[in-house]
Amino acid sequence: MARNRRVPEKINVLLVGTGGREHALAWRLSQSPRLGTLWIERGANAGLATLGTPCPEQVSGTLSNNERFRLGKFCDENDIGLVVIGPEDPLANGLTDLLQTEERMVFGPTAAGARLEADKGYAKTLMRSASVPTADGRTFDNHEFARTYIQQRGGSCVVKAAGLAAGKGVVVCQTPEEALAAVDHIMDDRAYGDAGASVVIEERLEGQELSVLALVDGRTISVLDPCQDHKQVGEGDVGPNTGGMGAYCPTPLARRELMADVHRDILIPTVDALRRDGVDFRGVLYAGLMLTPSGPKVLEFNVRFGDPECQPLMSRFQGDLIEVLWRTAAGCLSDAEFDFDGRTACTVVLCSEGYPGDYSKGRVIEGIAQAEKMDGVVVFHSGTTRAEDGTVVTSGGRVLGVTALADDLRTARDRANAACDLIDFEGAFHRRDIGDRVLQLAT
Ligand code: AMP
Ligand code: GLY
Repeated sequence: MARNRRVPEKINVLLVGTGGREHALAWRLSQSPRLGTLWIERGANAGLATLGTPCPEQVSGTLSNNERFRLGKFCDENDIGLVVIGPEDPLANGLTDLLQTEERMVFGPTAAGARLEADKGYAKTLMRSASVPTADGRTFDNHEFARTYIQQRGGSCVVKAAGLAAGKGVVVCQTPEEALAAVDHIMDDRAYGDAGASVVIEERLEGQELSVLALVDGRTISVLDPCQDHKQVGEGDVGPNTGGMGAYCPTPLARRELMADVHRDILIPTVDALRRDGVDFRGVLYAGLMLTPSGPKVLEFNVRFGDPECQPLMSRFQGDLIEVLWRTAAGCLSDAEFDFDGRTACTVVLCSEGYPGDYSKGRVIEGIAQAEKMDGVVVFHSGTTRAEDGTVVTSGGRVLGVTALADDLRTARDRANAACDLIDFEGAFHRRDIGDRVLQLAT
């Protein structure tokens, strides 16, 4: 697609996805003077639903030929100039391949690029071929071979469903017995469906985690301010992994030299390796890293904005988001100008009791408006919906991303916790210790 193209003055946008990441994106997209109509998916959460017009066509999931045809026709007839794809599933299912044209930009990689996230075995092979530092590991589609490998290697390890499992298909195991049970759960019980047809078994790394997200236009890599996410459900990083319980940005862990190493040793070789595989990668390249004593190593790649990371990122983003995403998709990102607010943003995720396991839905949520009256606080919705009587009720495990901006991390985190305390629904819980691992280093 042509580079150095002029960004249209008005653009109708179709935003794909219905969660917290998409509410944060829609909030910034709505502030762009270029926005014509913002179309959103049906089934959007109650916050996102206030910002856009529902698209009448089926957008996500496995689309039939008829649905694909109708969606393309809808985009043509409504002059959609930019499609922004939030979640990984539609990317892996080829929505970009379906909708991109010479005139219509699609933010998010093609199915071939999305494989980097959707197939952890492929990602490992690509990293090995490009000498990108990552945990040593092997991929198995045979249950017995996986078991033998675990028994032979002994000690701790990490077992991962190779396919997409909403951030939950990873089990960090202390002992071979735990690892064997994890393989049974993923491969035999198919706890994550076909995502568990094969598993990656890798060495267990220790250290602080860092999420480095970059915009990539096929060639140019623009690294965004680094974030730290908190995946485990319990305070002190205990319990099962979730999609993310809270994140803040920027993090003092990512010093300038470290970011330069990540750029040189991880992002550039990965984009180059993708290009060698014939992939012109356009969208977000998200490297989930462990900062080990021997340097940063990749735990996983994602091909989209992280959730919740997108929420603190968007709350600090300064610029015209439509222009930036359009230019990324058009291959002329180097002409885009944007910046980040100098303050720190912290998002604390308010969840439904039971998450990441089973949880109830339909619980009435109160206090969002009061929380948003606090200085620097914005509440992004994730798993919420509007009941027939107009009240906002829970509809997911991660319900709200309560986000606060302040001059430093501790104040931002404390403010987000205080805002969470103003919000109430039956069974609500959240971690109060987002950022603690870094705050403890500083004291
Ligand atoms: P992933 O989806 O691969 O990023 O894994 C989810 C979470 O599991 C990560 O954020 C880490 O907390 C943990 N994890 C994944 N791989 C490893 C590893 N090799 N060593 C230690 N922890 C890991
Ligand atoms: N927060 C982690 C993810 O989006 O995968």
